[in-house]
Amino acid sequence: MRALFNFNFRRMYATYPRLAVVATAYDGERKTALSLVWHTPLSFDPPVYSVSVAPKRFSHDVILRARTFAVHFFPYERAKIVELIGSTSGREVDKFKEFGIKHFMSNLQNPVIEGAYLVLDCEYLDHRLVGDHTLIWGEVKTVYYDPERVELGEDGGLRLRNISPTLYVGDGIYATVSGESLERLRKS
Ligand SMILES: Cc1cc2nc3c(=O)[nH]c(=O)nc-3n(C[C@H](O)[C@H](O)[C@H](O)COP(=O)(O)O)c2cc1C
Repeated sequence: MRALFNFNFRRMYATYPRLAVVATAYDGERKTALSLVWHTPLSFDPPVYSVSVAPKRFSHDVILRARTFAVHFFPYERAKIVELIGSTSGREVDKFKEFGIKHFMSNLQNPVIEGAYLVLDCEYLDHRLVGDHTLIWGEVKTVYYDPERVELGEDGGLRLRNISPTLYVGDGIYATVSGESLERLRKS
């Protein structure tokens, strides 16, 4: 192993691939959508999900004003919408109008974009600036899912049925996981 001390974390694509998602919000005036690879669950009970958003993003202030946000997981066939949303800013265009993004409003008044297999409708809990990004976390109040792709188990858990998540590799390159690449390593 070699040690590297002067690295460019912005381009640290060696830590990728990561699941690419889209977060949306509505502050009463503007609807916003941005793509994210920096996002993670933080708690099972209560269910808490977090997104890491750079303050310079148009969506940053909209989410903080709205105090709600929805996190969308798209199948790989819809990867282009993730790239489109993640390469244009709401400062220049209204992405919903410009790209004709079909959606409905969730229980918490977040745009829910058609074609996602899973959407976490989150109510803001708190945020904290971490270097050049703001970690924003919220309680998942409602989960919207596509029963064609996601299965609701008897335990109330949700599992992917047809696995084709959208992964981001970096440099505008996307990938997915194929069934052949799955292997059970756990004995029981
Ligand atoms: C695949 C992908 C992942 C991204 N991940 C993040 C992220 O985790 N955090 C972030 O602040 N921006 C991320 N971005 C950049 C924003 O999505 C992008 O700057 C977007 O245009 C912001 O839109 P807005 O200005 O309307 O909010 C990502 C972009 C792409 C394409």
